[in-house]
Amino acid sequence: MKTLLRIDSSLRLKNSYSRNAGDNFVRAWKEHNPGGSIRIREVGTSHIPHLEQDVLEKFYTAGDTSDHLKLSDQLIAELFGCDEILITLPMYNFGIPSSLKAYFDLVLRTGKTFRYDDDKAIGLLQNKKTYILSAMGELRSDIPNLVEMHLQQILNFIGIREIYYYSLDGTDDKESVKQQLNHQNELFMNILNK
Ligand SMILES: Cc1cc2nc3c(=O)[nH]c(=O)nc-3n(C[C@H](O)[C@H](O)[C@H](O)COP(=O)(O)O)c2cc1C
Repeated sequence: MKTLLRIDSSLRLKNSYSRNAGDNFVRAWKEHNPGGSIRIREVGTSHIPHLEQDVLEKFYTAGDTSDHLKLSDQLIAELFGCDEILITLPMYNFGIPSSLKAYFDLVLRTGKTFRYDDDKAIGLLQNKKTYILSAMGELRSDIPNLVEMHLQQILNFIGIREIYYYSLDGTDDKESVKQQLNHQNELFMNILNK
């Protein structure tokens, strides 16, 4: 039975388009994976500390067992312990939420989630299908989706290559959102059937 790790990062707990998309996606996922379980990692409203120099130094200390790395170890164990990953996020100031960046700063760790073979980085989290559901206020079909691009780089670096994207653009415009929401479940089904 599969386990889906759901990572939410909107500051809004209510009326969040990305969290609502996550709820709908999870419903569809459960239909596809009867008996599957969901684990939740709340990032948007819980305090994920910024990476600090003393923690960074411990990243490179083999065998270190201090408290410094507890959260980082826990986040990494969660990722290794799941079969699939769902990330929901808003665009904030042209990028991913700083809390989600802080999360990944604790997850990208040499010898744990990647290693170097000669000069080549090898990602160690393989075979984890990942779904990214993003929301942004503006309708910007003229430029690449910056949050998707950023997350793709991060995930590829740690070995995650099978990534499916859903983006709800133009959440500032109620009419545009309404139209997009009419197709949301259908798009999720298409993704899950891949
Ligand atoms: C602090 C902040 C910064 C934002 N920056 C952007 C932005 O750069 N580009 C954009 O299209 N929308 C921006 N938005 C709008 C959000 O992306 C939009 O409201 C989205 O629906 C938020 O996700 P949520 O509904 O899941 O909370 C910003 C919103 C906030 C609160």
